[in-house]
Amino acid sequence: MNTSEDIPSAVVAAPSIGDILVSTGVLRPQNLEQILQLQQREKLPFGEAAIALKLLTREDIDFALSKQFDYSYLDAQDGSLSPQLVAAYKPFSRVGENLRAVRSQLMLNWFNGELSRKVLAVVSPGKGDGRSFVAANLAIVFTQQGQRTLLIDADLRAKPECSQQALFQLDRGPGLSSILAGRGGLDLVKLVPGLPGLCVLTVGAVPPNPQELLGRAVFGRMLMKASELFDVILIDTPSGNDYADAEIISARAGAAIMVARKNQSLVPQASVLSRRLQDSGVSMVGAVLNDA
Ligand SMILES: Nc1ncnc2c1ncn2[C@@H]1O[C@H](COP(=O)(O)OP(=O)(O)OP(=O)(O)O)[C@@H](O)[C@H]1O
Ligand SMILES: [Mg+2]
Repeated sequence: MNTSEDIPSAVVAAPSIGDILVSTGVLRPQNLEQILQLQQREKLPFGEAAIALKLLTREDIDFALSKQFDYSYLDAQDGSLSPQLVAAYKPFSRVGENLRAVRSQLMLNWFNGELSRKVLAVVSPGKGDGRSFVAANLAIVFTQQGQRTLLIDADLRAKPECSQQALFQLDRGPGLSSILAGRGGLDLVKLVPGLPGLCVLTVGAVPPNPQELLGRAVFGRMLMKASELFDVILIDTPSGNDYADAEIISARAGAAIMVARKNQSLVPQASVLSRRLQDSGVSMVGAVLNDA
């Protein structure tokens, strides 16, 4: 027989969807009563009864379900992070579905728990292909699966408004560049409020010599240390066509995933970058067609 000791405590203690919606102010207590009555009378699931009574929307139910199962998900009204983080704001959208498919592909092809298989660079040939978008949202879907995830912004060339610091609305302040300069360690990673399990290492002050810094041995040592602490480490990079940085970063990571933007990225350029990376010993473990 199952005793409560057999069941994870989060499940035993999980509040009902109705309780969550009342406590977050989405539903009034008197409406909760109405829903429960219809639910019992018609033997409907709670969500279906609430939708039939037009008291809740499908989005309200998804939000409550995510809270019930401790799933990192932000309410649309919560403006604390950039709306571009669709995996956090609209996890059940088509983009969210696609990101989860990429996550499954990567779990099969790359992340297997071994220390040497924890890091993945997110690369693409051109500017604006969506590397930062894909890296940030993929980091969120890994977090939602319960993986301890670190997102490293190694695009030391990015405009500040396109950086991971801006997407996650984190403090400016020291980040990767300080670690590479020997002035700090992994204690500089920042937690993302509202998305437990996700850590971000921002760029920090932009250095005048990015390539030289990325080539330092301290980068490799930092990734080795991070591999002991995290399950998944994703690295955002600058465009592969414009700088050698992506190659240097991917060689440190050991593996990379290619982002191609629909109707924008040129297939020959992606193949050339892929070949260059493979020649440097990088495993190409997946591709994302970013079709915004
Ligand atoms: N799938 C998508 N859905 C919606 N918007 C997207 C998508 N992909 C990218 N974008 C938007 O397109 C713009 C460029 O994307 P992003 O900054 O991620 O590209 P990048 O490859 O990192 O560019 P850069 O070369 O500047 O580093 C951003 O405003 C981003 O939010
Ligand atoms: Mg970018």
